Amino acid sequence: MKKTAFSKTIYDTLLQAYRPFIVKLTVSIILGFLGRFLILSNAQILGQFIDQTATLSTDNLKPLVLKLFFILIFAFILTLIFRTWFSRLSALAVSRIYDETTYRVSRFPISFFDQQPVGKITTRFSSDYGNIFRLFGGPLAEFLSILFDLISIVVLMVFVHPYFLITLLFSSWIYLSILKRNQFRLRSSRRELSNNRAPSIAHFSETVQGSTTIRLNQKQKMFTDKFLQYDDTYLLAKRTVFWNVTRFSIELNILSALFFGLNGIVCLFLIHRGIIGIGLASVVLTFTLLATNTLQMFFEWFSQFEEALVGVEKLDDYLRSEIEPGAMLPSYSDFNTNHPKRHHDEHPLPPDSEDKSPYHLQAEGLNFKYPTSKNMILHSISFKIKPGEKLGIIGRTGSGKSTLISALLHLYPIQSGALLINGKNENDVERHRSLFSVISQDQLFLTGTIRTNLDLFRQHSNHEIEKILQQVGLDFSLHDDVFEKGQNLSQGEKQLLSLARGLLQKAEIFIFDEATSNVDPHSESLMNRALTDILSDKTQIRIAHRLQTVEDCNEILWLDEGRVKKIGPAKEVLVAFQKARL
Ligand SMILES: Nc1ncnc2c1ncn2[C@@H]1O[C@H](COP(=O)(O)OP(=O)(O)OP(=O)(O)O)[C@@H](O)[C@H]1O
Ligand SMILES: [Mg+2]
Repeated sequence: MKKTAFSKTIYDTLLQAYRPFIVKLTVSIILGFLGRFLILSNAQILGQFIDQTATLSTDNLKPLVLKLFFILIFAFILTLIFRTWFSRLSALAVSRIYDETTYRVSRFPISFFDQQPVGKITTRFSSDYGNIFRLFGGPLAEFLSILFDLISIVVLMVFVHPYFLITLLFSSWIYLSILKRNQFRLRSSRRELSNNRAPSIAHFSETVQGSTTIRLNQKQKMFTDKFLQYDDTYLLAKRTVFWNVTRFSIELNILSALFFGLNGIVCLFLIHRGIIGIGLASVVLTFTLLATNTLQMFFEWFSQFEEALVGVEKLDDYLRSEIEPGAMLPSYSDFNTNHPKRHHDEHPLPPDSEDKSPYHLQAEGLNFKYPTSKNMILHSISFKIKPGEKLGIIGRTGSGKSTLISALLHLYPIQSGALLINGKNENDVERHRSLFSVISQDQLFLTGTIRTNLDLFRQHSNHEIEKILQQVGLDFSLHDDVFEKGQNLSQGEKQLLSLARGLLQKAEIFIFDEATSNVDPHSESLMNRALTDILSDKTQIRIAHRLQTVEDCNEILWLDEGRVKKIGPAKEVLVAFQKARL
């Protein structure tokens, strides 16, 4: 079944977004309505004056012109206040939807990011949100002004003579049935349009990211064709929306002609009976024309808002999705969406280690699978590390070494088993992760400088950072450039920078995931020195491809197809491992 109505929760989301501004918005709406009503009532005053004045002279015209002039000025001021005030408040309100969605998306389970194309997520935060902001942050005031005009016209017409109420009600009834007939069709075609935008952007972003590979394999044409194919589907959806809009618009035009004809007949009848004069009749007919034009505009805006509401629906879907287990929204999050929330703003403190267990980290019978994998990847993994001890992890490629790290950091939920820090299970994932630092080459590097990459939020002094750079043996200045994804850094430099990050963050457990690819001997010796000297008193987990890396570890865990093949003193396990490899 095709979904046509908007999900109920989007209205709740909008209400939550506007909630802090409700009083101010109501005041501004009252002022805005008054402004538009006064502007339109000028025509009424003029019409009445013409009908009631036998001869026009400067004496009776002067006070009238003055009166109209002052009403107009006053009305303009009210309208201006409404427009600027309302637009500003409305922009602030919808930007709350963006913020609140960000708080949640940044806490989504990692599997969400594994499965969703980057382009799709980008579309939500760029074009979908762009639609919402563009319309709610300005045109909504315009839309309301149109609504005020329509209401004012109805009131002023009925004020001329109640007979017009009949033509108004009749026309409104036809209008609503036209609207109802078209609305579902329009909504579903708009939703289709919005759904078709994401795949082409996702494909575009994937293509850009893989541009080197695509070029090396001479596959440019295939990727371009695929993009054009997505684009064609999008254009087709756009055309459907266009036809639906045009069709609706033609139906409305026919209705407008009918409305004008009916009111013309009523005017003639009332003039014939001497109930109204030419002045008021012209006012009514002018209002009728105005109303039909206004109605057309009202619809045009209305249809744009429907598109923006589709955007709200998409963000709302993110707003109400589950965040990862153990994560909490920040205390300043203001939307009520059934997610756990922190009580205060401080950065989560590391778990206290009062009742000290002899073990810094303990894994007991860990079973783990990725949300997307069918079979279990890790089977009953158990080990214990005392504070300051080093555990080496070895195993063939694909044996689950990196997966074990994902499980230790709760990047994905573990199926069963326990993971204890200082003897305790830490429920708060942020607190849990703040204890660890992972040193690897595939860390996130941002476009900027060495300084921004080490201390994005400026929590440390230059001196402090320089000292750490020196300590890890990197000869960088704080203002040296870093390109996107750290493309201008060598693999070894990336490792050392990620070590510097961990030291700045004062992590307690350092995890070193050794590169599979060869690192030059100089970088390798720098890294080895870092592990043995700088991190000598820290608890470490070292994943090794080169066995020398783990020779000085207290214990070695040998993983084989996700199971512990052997765990014990370094020498013993290494000898057994080497024997098995022969
Ligand atoms: N994100 C993921 N989703 C699903 N399956 C995954 C994911 N990452 C890894 N796997 C699977 O888990 C298994 C273990 O992979 P893992 O990366 O842990 O191996 P590894 O021991 O680190 O290998 P290497 O020495 O090559 O780094 C593999 O079969 C792999 O296909
Ligand atoms: Mg690995």
